[in-house]
Amino acid sequence: MVVILVIEIASVVVCVLKWDWVESQLKSALQISINDQYAGSSATDPISVAWNYAFVTFHCCGVYNSTDLSSAKKWNSTNKIPDTCCIVTGNFPDQSGPTDPSCPNKPTTGNSHAHKGCYESILDLILQYNDYIIGISAAIATLQIFTLVAAIVIARTRNKIRPT
Ligand SMILES: *[C@@H]1O[C@H](CO)[C@@H](O)[C@H](O)[C@H]1NC(C)=O
Ligand SMILES: *[C@@H]1O[C@H](CO)[C@@H](O)[C@H](O)[C@H]1NC(C)=O
Repeated sequence: MVVILVIEIASVVVCVLKWDWVESQLKSALQISINDQYAGSSATDPISVAWNYAFVTFHCCGVYNSTDLSSAKKWNSTNKIPDTCCIVTGNFPDQSGPTDPSCPNKPTTGNSHAHKGCYESILDLILQYNDYIIGISAAIATLQIFTLVAAIVIARTRNKIRPT
């Protein structure tokens, strides 16, 4: 139990100290998923659907911005940005087409989210989640400390009353 406690504390410390590292890993993993998997706004594979969901829901495009999509091997469209990076109405997956039909070829800050990356949005989501994870870990750790103290107290008491 002491070992688990030490591992828990260590992992929290690593997360806090190595945040830059965690962040850069996260960014490159996201970019790789775009490069290798993203196949456009009407693709049905889970990775493309997840990205399109993010684009429509969080009003963003790419990791940093829409330029990140230019290295998507599976997205061989002649458009500059996918429809899901344009301003649309409704929620994913029932959103409308681009409000401005010229958006996919001529994205601007007025008709698209091309300038805004999803990294910040996704990070916000993870951090929101992280609060719960930290809270639950802290609760478990507290419980473990109590159990440990209780176990020691019980062991000592037993030793005292046990006739030798
Ligand atoms: C895009 O790629 C798919 C297969 O990956 C191919 O069938 C399609 O013709 C390509 N379209 C263009 C515009 O190159
Ligand atoms: C995306 O960001 C890069 C680097 O900051 C910049 O050069 C590029 O013009 C941006 N593209 C858009 C569409 O905002």
